Amino acid sequence: MISDTPIAGTALVKRFGEFTAVNGIDLAVRRGEFFGILGPNGAGKSSTMRMLGCVSPPTAGTLRVLDMDPVRDGHRIRARLGVCPQADSLDAELTVLENITTYARYFRLSRRAARERALELLDFMQLADRAGNHINTLSGGMKRRLVIARALVNQPEVVLLDEPTTGLDPQARHLVWERLFRLKEQGVTLVLTTHYMDEAEQLCDRLVVMDGGKIVGDGAPGDLIRRHASQEVVELRFAAGSTVDLDGIGDRVERLPDRTLLYCADGEKAVGALHDRGVTPAGVYIRRGSLEDVFLRLTGRQLID
Ligand SMILES: Nc1ncnc2c1ncn2[C@@H]1O[C@H](COP(=O)(O)OP(=O)(O)OP(=O)(O)O)[C@@H](O)[C@H]1O
Ligand SMILES: [Mg+2]
Repeated sequence: MISDTPIAGTALVKRFGEFTAVNGIDLAVRRGEFFGILGPNGAGKSSTMRMLGCVSPPTAGTLRVLDMDPVRDGHRIRARLGVCPQADSLDAELTVLENITTYARYFRLSRRAARERALELLDFMQLADRAGNHINTLSGGMKRRLVIARALVNQPEVVLLDEPTTGLDPQARHLVWERLFRLKEQGVTLVLTTHYMDEAEQLCDRLVVMDGGKIVGDGAPGDLIRRHASQEVVELRFAAGSTVDLDGIGDRVERLPDRTLLYCADGEKAVGALHDRGVTPAGVYIRRGSLEDVFLRLTGRQLID
């Protein structure tokens, strides 16, 4: 049976001893959706992903994955999931091809089917010419692509990707985006964590922003931008020590050590209003409001650890 909400969690908690890594979150991922989990380092993204992947039982709350109970039916669920963990976890003793075929055996694919599927996936991730190479001869980006390929060996209905593109160069990142989009077109449900806001903005239908184990924002990228940022942002630089009155211009002003950000609906108009006031900044840059603005607004600009 195919569920309409393959992932449904309510008041999920994950504790490690006294420490609470995930502090009561609700998640509902719809079938065929590309769902993102964003958050600063230590926010609880990977802890959440491991619960969804049925390898780490929730401390409290309820979780259903593919309409089953991860604790009781973990094995049956995992057979239908694809998992790309944050750490590469490849077998250094084996070749690229063997890493996939060995993994395929867990899903009871015949030797022949495993090999066929592995070659197909290596091709999909543009690693076919590396099939016979050992893992230690691969670059970091190639390893990452191999872990993604391996996650797809059982033709999963739901794929969990924990920072799949960290460390990839722009070319490889675009390849991965295109491949993930193709999976979505085939009806696969995808859950992604990433630190790249452009990636989340491009790929995700909906996302949550986590901070300190809680969800601090959720919605479609465009909705989040409308709600927490603005249509346009004017980045202004002023000569050191100058004080400038920006009251009444734009919706919100944020003063950073190196720049002043003016959140507004229309950047050109805001700059016009500045000039009318006789303000001449040393630098002006107008851009669209972005998910990065939302992220920094919701989670703060300070480093936590
Ligand atoms: N097995 C564990 N034992 C103890 N603490 C843990 C364990 N796993 C995670 N934590 C802690 O839980 C918190 C959340 O970790 P988690 O790995 O989920 O964060 P994250 O959002 O994935 O961060 P990153 O962006 O750095 O990957 C961190 O403070 C981490 O130190
Ligand atoms: Mg993580």
